[in-house]
Amino acid sequence: MVHYKLTKMKLELNNATKFLAQGLIESFQSPAMLAQQALEDGTCAGNDFLGWLHLPSNISSELITEITSTAQYLRDNCDAVVIAGIGGSYLGAKAIISALDDNFSWLKSSDSPRILFAGNNISEDYLAELIGYLKGVRFGIINISKSGTTTETAITFRILKTLCEQQRGKSEARNVIVAITDAVKGAARMTAEKEGYKTFVIPDDVGGRFSVLTPVGLLPIAVAGFDIVSLINGAKDMESACATSVPFNNNPCALYAAYRNALYASGKKIEILVNYQPKLHFMSEWWKQLYGESEGKDGKGIFPASVDFSTDLHSMGQWIQDGERTIFETVISIDSPKYNLTVPSDEENLDGLNFLANKHIDEINHMAELGTQIAHIDGGVPNIRISIPRLDEYNLGQLIYFFEKACGISGLLINVNPFNQPGVEAYKKNMFALLGKPGYEPLNLIPSTEFGAS
Ligand code: PA5
Repeated sequence: MVHYKLTKMKLELNNATKFLAQGLIESFQSPAMLAQQALEDGTCAGNDFLGWLHLPSNISSELITEITSTAQYLRDNCDAVVIAGIGGSYLGAKAIISALDDNFSWLKSSDSPRILFAGNNISEDYLAELIGYLKGVRFGIINISKSGTTTETAITFRILKTLCEQQRGKSEARNVIVAITDAVKGAARMTAEKEGYKTFVIPDDVGGRFSVLTPVGLLPIAVAGFDIVSLINGAKDMESACATSVPFNNNPCALYAAYRNALYASGKKIEILVNYQPKLHFMSEWWKQLYGESEGKDGKGIFPASVDFSTDLHSMGQWIQDGERTIFETVISIDSPKYNLTVPSDEENLDGLNFLANKHIDEINHMAELGTQIAHIDGGVPNIRISIPRLDEYNLGQLIYFFEKACGISGLLINVNPFNQPGVEAYKKNMFALLGKPGYEPLNLIPSTEFGAS
């Protein structure tokens, strides 16, 4: 029961089971299946945001063709493409592109346009340095915002649009600016219509953090030169593998949702997503948004954190091994690397490394993973392990859908609406009041105490 195997992806749960009281996981079986059925029937909280559920199997070949040809136009006419978006409007694309890209692509010359991300912060220095880089570069923009009014993205777009028009002229600029936004409303839609930009629609019923398999993720991924059809096929296969008809014990999404909630109910309040490949860093950022924004509400929700191993074994490793015992780990492991590289033998062996001579770096990495798993389990950290054969579009598509569906089930298991994010509004209201946006009441600020040498 505790070892689920899918053709391409493997979910190992044995090392979490041993931390659970007898019968606990079984008590989540029926609620998890009911939650899954409620998603399917559209009877759950947030049921107006379930468009992601069958996206992989419903995406039309016309849309794929439109995305692919727009991507090709941008690839043919731009040396850089800036993706302007924040939260769900950038993390999915960033995660997949980082996972598939060469670690050092930014240092190499290439036929592909350089993909840059902006509109995800309000840093003057970031924007000034970006503009500094883009001066004289033939760049295009993909402006992504469902609401069409998000401040970070809107400020960035205003600046980039002006620069693009200055450098390429208004009529050429309009051909290399694409908007991905609501079908009718929002400033991004209004500007796109007025200027005549190519547009793609973010479906009403797909929330930002569930939108990577819409043009929000697919267009940037295609511009970067990756195969969106394989990505969708992986997601589609996972959609079938987790269909409502698949029994609990064979259903990876229901099992993952049940296990993480059984651990949560057992006092494990923090889940750490672990990877052993730097390329997966942004997959964790995407995952944190997905689970944090979906579950962290009404005073509830597992806190999603992440680490990159073995790098962070030399920093956070101490806390994980020995700190407060309120954590569990979910490890994403990649079976095989893309390249072959072994440790060279050395006659003098001054560094004492000849015991590793001729071993693959990846074998050493996997032994680091195994050694860490054993140590952490001994230290009281339950371990869930997800492995995929390699980092490619198909397997990443599986992972994306797996995490999305499990997230929907998991949120319903703690009785929250997994598809809203009311808490995100609080900072915006204050920021607008502080900046004097019309219609916002001034804030009463608590005077701050200043420290420092005079
Ligand atoms: O998941 C979400 O809904 C959010 O993270 C949004 O994607 C994010 O706030 C950006 O919103 P918008 O696409 O409206 O600019």
